Amino acid sequence: MTDHFSQKIFPTTQLEDADGDGHNTSLNPTMGEIIGKRFSRRGFLQGSLAVSAIAATVGPAALLSAQEARANGGSAFSFPEVEAGVDATHHVAEGYDADILLRWGDAIFADAPEFDPTKQTAAAQERQFGYNNDYVGFIPLDGSAEHGLLVVNHEYTNPHLMFPGLVTIVDGKIEQGKLSKDQVDVEMAAHGGTIVEIRKVDGKWQVVPEGKYNRRITANTEMRLTGPVAGHDRVKTSADATGTKVIGTLNNCAGGVTPWGTYIMAEENFHGYFSGELPADHAEAANYKRYGVPDSGYDWANFYDRFDLAKEPNEPNRFGWIVEVDVMDPNSVPKKRTALGRTKHEGAESIVAKNGKVVFYLGDDERFDYVYKFVTDGTYNPNDRAANMDLLDAGTLYVAKFNEDGTMQWLPLVHGEGPLTAENGFASQADVLIETRRAGDLVGATKMDRPEDVQPNGVNGKVYVMLTNNSKRKADQVDAANPRAANAFGHIIEIEEDGGDFTATSGKWEVLLKCGDPSVAEVGATFSTETTKNGWFGMPDNCAVDAAGRLWVSTDGNSNKATGRTDGLWAVDTEGDARATSKLFFRVPVGAEMCGPLFTPDDETVFVAVQHPGDGGEDWDGHGRPSYYEDLSTRWPDFKDDMPVRPAVVAITKIGGGKIGV
Ligand code: FEO
Ligand code: CA
Ligand code: CA
Repeated sequence: MTDHFSQKIFPTTQLEDADGDGHNTSLNPTMGEIIGKRFSRRGFLQGSLAVSAIAATVGPAALLSAQEARANGGSAFSFPEVEAGVDATHHVAEGYDADILLRWGDAIFADAPEFDPTKQTAAAQERQFGYNNDYVGFIPLDGSAEHGLLVVNHEYTNPHLMFPGLVTIVDGKIEQGKLSKDQVDVEMAAHGGTIVEIRKVDGKWQVVPEGKYNRRITANTEMRLTGPVAGHDRVKTSADATGTKVIGTLNNCAGGVTPWGTYIMAEENFHGYFSGELPADHAEAANYKRYGVPDSGYDWANFYDRFDLAKEPNEPNRFGWIVEVDVMDPNSVPKKRTALGRTKHEGAESIVAKNGKVVFYLGDDERFDYVYKFVTDGTYNPNDRAANMDLLDAGTLYVAKFNEDGTMQWLPLVHGEGPLTAENGFASQADVLIETRRAGDLVGATKMDRPEDVQPNGVNGKVYVMLTNNSKRKADQVDAANPRAANAFGHIIEIEEDGGDFTATSGKWEVLLKCGDPSVAEVGATFSTETTKNGWFGMPDNCAVDAAGRLWVSTDGNSNKATGRTDGLWAVDTEGDARATSKLFFRVPVGAEMCGPLFTPDDETVFVAVQHPGDGGEDWDGHGRPSYYEDLSTRWPDFKDDMPVRPAVVAITKIGGGKIGV
């Protein structure tokens, strides 16, 4: 299929790092003033320590880490830092093993065919690990930290790295051919998620291909819409008159594991899969414009009508949801939980509040879009798993407004309240949820610099918001929570909910870190002076809080050109004098993004996901060059001439055992 080339660029850049201005044209105010000195790091810390309710949430694990911190120059972390840089492989801190656990094409079932990249089929792919691993979760079996289900999202596909014979080089640039139906079918089977049993044997993690819960979820897996949008006319199609039965999940980026042990897959850049034109004057035109639909990043509409707006104009309303999977039943139908809203969901990390309600924090990853949280109506029952299985169908969705004075409000997106009325085109809560972004516009949410992971920390009671970057923010659009114009390197916000109550509708916030090279004054980065030249980073994306309450941040967008380093996993101090000190623990091979990360409950393993290695226009010694199947910038992790580069999940453990980073 090399005889017919389209002009498109790759979905990697097209969907996630798109150079557009975002799709938020609302008039929500920007505040125009850089945050004042009174919100300096230390001032806020003193204030927060005075709040006894927060101190009460600090558990023994945090106190232990504080003792360790005193013995380690104030930092809660102790490991030899990795040197930042760019080359063809990964690097982990000395004293640790980084073992490849699962690569694209590895067997998820005992009967899976051996991976042959020159003859890949959809049938084989459905039995094998998918492409571009992103979220990683661990659900213990029998309460063990050494035996459980690994759940992994497969966000998207990179055809130019996956398929031979698809690319030609024209004027030094890649042109990618149109995909055949067989290739599209492989792509669809390489999307979605993997549920696979894993076990630690003699200190090393192994996949259990015979695991009875093992499952692949793909772009063709049948799902149910549940909650307020289920059955609504706006989600009915010619294939589904009920408005409840959806085929597949798309672009599952980050996610979560609920307190009751289900797997959350967040649908992010769903707009890229749709092509074609809506019928003239179609009622969904404004809705789709707000979400950038269609984007035509994939060739799927050439073969499947559901991705063609001209034929199935309602189909995009069936994507952009939070999907919940019952991993204990491999035949369960995944549920799209519409009560949590429809956005380009980065993830959905959760925590049980003091009153037993469960709070999910949600980022909508696009320039100038919003941070959300969802609070369940019902309460979590730790003694009855079945009683929790539909908690996500009823609750309140809130959007964040960050005020200039360091306070914030969570504004409810509830039909009939404030502007969310029929006069403004919302006939019911279903309309509010289908057009979550417009609801956020109308209530006056704060336009953020690409909200990615939002992670509650049960040890210190705070919440961490990763904001990747926003090169399109202009000087007159700067506000306290997004304090830099042309924000190339992103920042991290720390939220403290009022009263230490995760269900609170107001709180305080401050910027934990402005990212980028602190040695370049114009960048305005705020890493501590203890942070080395290896320790700073740009573009925070995913993050994890370990059992001791320590923050680990992974990145998307570092490169030779951007920061002189690959993406990686950094340990970031949040407490005491070491606050805003960062250290590099692991770095990825050239072209990759760092996803995961996920700690086992004993903190003795961190799983990380190396996504899209070998992608992009740089090789390991910094010269610009195209990278594609026949001429790759790296063949990580196999380094064999007949094996292409492969996204993979890596298990990092301490040599000889023990907790990570201690
Ligand atoms: Fe798929 Fe927002 O990263
Ligand atoms: Ca991400
Ligand atoms: Ca990302």
